[in-house]
Amino acid sequence: MASGDRVLSLLEEEPETKDISNGMNVDFDSIDIKNLDFAYNTEKILQNITLSCKSGNITGIYGKSGCGKSTLLKLMMRFWNRDGGILNLSGYPIENINTQNLREHESYCTQDTFLFNDTIGNNIRIAKLNASDKEVTKAAKSASIHDFISSLPNGYNTQIGELGDRLSGGEKQRIGIARAFLSGVNIMLLDELTSNLDSLNEAIILKSLKNTNDKTIILVSHRKSTLSIADTVYYLENNRRS
Ligand SMILES: Nc1ncnc2c1ncn2[C@@H]1O[C@H](COP(=O)(O)OP(=O)(O)OP(=O)(O)O)[C@@H](O)[C@H]1O
Ligand SMILES: [Mg+2]
Repeated sequence: MASGDRVLSLLEEEPETKDISNGMNVDFDSIDIKNLDFAYNTEKILQNITLSCKSGNITGIYGKSGCGKSTLLKLMMRFWNRDGGILNLSGYPIENINTQNLREHESYCTQDTFLFNDTIGNNIRIAKLNASDKEVTKAAKSASIHDFISSLPNGYNTQIGELGDRLSGGEKQRIGIARAFLSGVNIMLLDELTSNLDSLNEAIILKSLKNTNDKTIILVSHRKSTLSIADTVYYLENNRRS
């Protein structure tokens, strides 16, 4: 009965935002934000934020821990709705765009990589289910994780479960980055993607990012070295008021 209760409450849970299916499909390129406000419940996290990410550019965002950088990326994915201001994708308000269209063209590489109990290859392929082995390998190379995977006895067929806790934070993170490269979407939101990496792996990944010159990339980072590849860098102030 207790587990039944938990399953039922999960099934009854309402998402924060409703999917849109009667809106419009757009070509994803730029993001424009003006005077944006957002609060989780009553606590104001973002106030009067203005920034613009031009098509094909890399836009950096940095700021202190807790100032709302990940929150801003979640608003760009419409995981939450903003309270005020403008949030336009390719010139159209985000809430007018079909959710499926949004998910197909915008990806969010989170701070923590969640791995499923499957092979390493399939964990990367989640980003594009019909990807060929060649595409998966290419993405892994761009994310500087191919050599590590190849060194395992079963290579890409290694079960994540078999590795137990053997994967380091940086290795997990690079699997997450390989997903972002494989997805091939137009707008890539990358949250602290180099936080667990040494400078060699960081350099390889930044070079791969620099080479994807047709993508619009938003790079959230604490590291100056990571932000050095950005065309524009914004500093997000911690202007939180309860
Ligand atoms: N789902 C949530 N409900 C309520 N408050 C939240 C939620 N998610 C985040 N917060 C709060 O919002 C603030 C901003 O969080 P956010 O994760 O955006 O910060 P951040 O700038 O990404 O920090 P970091 O650099 O440590 O990743 C924090 O004070 C956090 O506690
Ligand atoms: Mg964050």
